[in-house]
Amino acid sequence: MHIDPDLAVLDIEYVRGQFPVLSREIKPGVPLIYLDSAATSQKPRQVIEAMSTYYESQNANVHRGIHRLAEEATVSFESAREKVAQFIGIESARQIIFTRNATEAINLVAHSWARANLKKGDLIILTEMEHHSNIVPWQILAQERGVRLAFVSVTEDGLLDLNSFHDLLGEKPRLVAFTHMSNMLGTVNPVKEMTRLSHDAGAVVLIDGAQAVPHLPVNVGDIGADFYAFSAHKMCGPTGIGVLYGREDLLEEMPPFLGGGDMIKRVQLESFTANDLPYKFEAGTPPIAEGVGLGAAIDFLTSIGMDAIHQHEKLLIGRMLDRLEEVPGVRVYGPSADHKGGVASFSFVDIHPHDVAQILDSHGIAVRAGHHCAMPIHEKFGLPATTRASFYLYNTVEEVDSLIEGLYKVKEIFS
Ligand code: ALA
Repeated sequence: MHIDPDLAVLDIEYVRGQFPVLSREIKPGVPLIYLDSAATSQKPRQVIEAMSTYYESQNANVHRGIHRLAEEATVSFESAREKVAQFIGIESARQIIFTRNATEAINLVAHSWARANLKKGDLIILTEMEHHSNIVPWQILAQERGVRLAFVSVTEDGLLDLNSFHDLLGEKPRLVAFTHMSNMLGTVNPVKEMTRLSHDAGAVVLIDGAQAVPHLPVNVGDIGADFYAFSAHKMCGPTGIGVLYGREDLLEEMPPFLGGGDMIKRVQLESFTANDLPYKFEAGTPPIAEGVGLGAAIDFLTSIGMDAIHQHEKLLIGRMLDRLEEVPGVRVYGPSADHKGGVASFSFVDIHPHDVAQILDSHGIAVRAGHHCAMPIHEKFGLPATTRASFYLYNTVEEVDSLIEGLYKVKEIFS
């Protein structure tokens, strides 16, 4: 692999060397070019090894046993919580709740905070660019409780229409929930300013950070959000563990989400007393090895540097957008590289996205085709589906160029 040394912001040879799957060939002589990290990222050996070591030498249940393994497993798991807090600029790990994924983190807020605090007629503001995970839980709540939903519109350029946002804030919403970075358009939203304005309007703020935390330096403390959700598997960590950050006073007042072991202090036949934070929201045996893996992923990302990762992806998306312009008949969605992370969704006028993805796959190039769990924003642009290439720290300029060559091959086949 080679990257223009004048432009390189990270040691790409070293980075790629940490990801075993990247040496795979899809068929003899055809190396894997993985451009689907917005769906899930690949895992470095540091994460794979941390999880194997945990299973080989420490495996036990946490918070329960007094034997050596149980103590060590608890320390490993809880130190991951500390790492998460530090990684996103939060002082107290009591405010870090482990969930299954970002989706469950948002559902936790919808079930616990929203059901305890919202009533019929209350307004929730979302945006048209949300992932289904930040739409459907609120639709279920609207059906059940009669809360109202309103959506900040998206401009033709794929940015949030801030006039529409200001107008909706005038209607005194109780909750404003929006994505930090769109998984379809790649748009990075002005979350700090949106949080400030939402607070000025008296609303609680929830941010879906599933696409942001893996790719940008994110300081949730500085942003000031009341709730912030993300998933480990998109940030070099394992599947099966996600994070909900919550403001401590809100979490303290919220009723538990799921009931069972670990989330209680005391149980009698008629009643229970809920545990302290964060365990109050973690019923049952938690994802222990996954927590260890997430901790290792954070160590790995920190050792590379989130600024460097972000700059590297800027380089790739800039190159991708420039080169897509050359390809006849392609339309790209979302803003210019200045307002965008490493995600490019595009369509050909006359070729179905699934055909595009299938032909690219035959050249070893993995992209996603479909609605990317964001049907409303596709409908907004009059699209049933798009093809999406998404980048991470291990992708190269050469891979972007291979994708463009792949698109020319797609055109040849359909001409
Ligand atoms: N949310 C994931 C994606 O955008 C699955 O592909």
